[in-house]
Amino acid sequence: MNINDVKKIAVLGSGAMGHGIAQVCIQAGYSVIMRDIKQEFLDNGVAKIKESLEFLVGKGKLAADAKDKALSLLSTTLDTKEAVKDAQLVVEAVPEIMDLKKSVFKEVSDACPADSILATNTSTMSISEIGSVVKNPERFVGLHFFNPVNRMKLVEVIYGDKTSDATADLMSEISKKIEKIPVKVLKDRPGFIVNRISAPNQALLSAILDEGKVPPQELDAMMKKMGAKMAPFETADFVGLDVFCHTLDYYAKTLSPQYKPGKYLSDKVAKKELGMKSGKGIYEWKDGKAVIDTSKTSEDLTPIHLLAVQINEAVKVWKEGLANSIQDIDDGVKYGMNAFAGPFALAAGMQPQQLADALNMLASRFKLDILKPEPEIIDGSFKTIGR
Ligand SMILES: NC(=O)c1ccc[n+]([C@@H]2O[C@H](COP(=O)([O-])OP(=O)(O)OC[C@H]3O[C@@H](n4cnc5c(N)ncnc54)[C@H](O)[C@@H]3O)[C@@H](O)[C@H]2O)c1
Repeated sequence: MNINDVKKIAVLGSGAMGHGIAQVCIQAGYSVIMRDIKQEFLDNGVAKIKESLEFLVGKGKLAADAKDKALSLLSTTLDTKEAVKDAQLVVEAVPEIMDLKKSVFKEVSDACPADSILATNTSTMSISEIGSVVKNPERFVGLHFFNPVNRMKLVEVIYGDKTSDATADLMSEISKKIEKIPVKVLKDRPGFIVNRISAPNQALLSAILDEGKVPPQELDAMMKKMGAKMAPFETADFVGLDVFCHTLDYYAKTLSPQYKPGKYLSDKVAKKELGMKSGKGIYEWKDGKAVIDTSKTSEDLTPIHLLAVQINEAVKVWKEGLANSIQDIDDGVKYGMNAFAGPFALAAGMQPQQLADALNMLASRFKLDILKPEPEIIDGSFKTIGR
């Protein structure tokens, strides 16, 4: 199959991700059928797509007739077989439950055309395991969009054990057609590229909270002063401390036990102080905003420490062969995290000694070996690897 053969896309799930994926696909001229388990969920997804397109029209970013054309390409169904029977591409965005995803793909694989490409938007689970139930695993792939889909540019195209190059290439082409920036992830490893690079900083934030010496607002104030739109502890609250801990638990099982969430965060979750959604987490939340006292900034831990951790993990990701190039790793972080630049670009101006000292200090102070500097950080070769 080549890109011109793809005319119809089935999107399974019309929630936060599914409706966003459907929207960007109809805007690019694809015919899309969205499937959910209740009519009200589908109606809600369609309403959100309309709202988003109307917003774009109001801003002058989309012509009114382009909006009408896009909406005319959208249909819905409550039946999986109906959704996939004539779709060349199926994108699954159902809840993050392995058994559910497997049972959905089993049904899809039996009902879709023999040459269809099947993609999962899982954010954490093994692509190979989800794809183990389909008839043609060489045409099974991870297609990891970021939230909100209509604004975030990145799509990680993830290889499972059996994904063919032709499938990954075609998904990259389609990602470009729907105006996304694809980055191929060559191995099916926890966190793929982008979330993996954030993982050790998540563990560090948890350890900082447990240590209790650096008030979260002081580190966040420093990050905001440096231009961060959303600072790290604020982001944890925004995402939800339950989700934050769930992710750490997952990395504890798959990467290293040192990722286990600490007492501060576990207590918060037990008390249902989950962040924005419950009105209180690390911060109090009012009118959708965290109340953060930014009058004092941290001088002990600074953004350099967080950056050092990110660069160190990026080196590991490169060495593990997850990416085709360091440019792909930089693009992943830049467009998947809305960062100013990627870790290798930022590392170019930094001294090896400064990074190694920061990492050694963090590893010993917080008893986290996962933060120890890689040999390439110590000898400075991180500036030339992959080039
Ligand atoms: N929310 C995020 O920030 C984010 C980011 C990247 C990836 N993801 C991944 O995307 C997937 C979906 O996440 P979400 O945030 O959109 O979840 P969501 O809960 O908002 O939406 C999931 C939708 O799937 C529907 N559904 C349940 N069973 C179904 C079935 N058998 N067939 C069709 N639809 C079914 C649900 O009714 C719901 O509307 C998950 O795998 C998640 O890990 C989420």
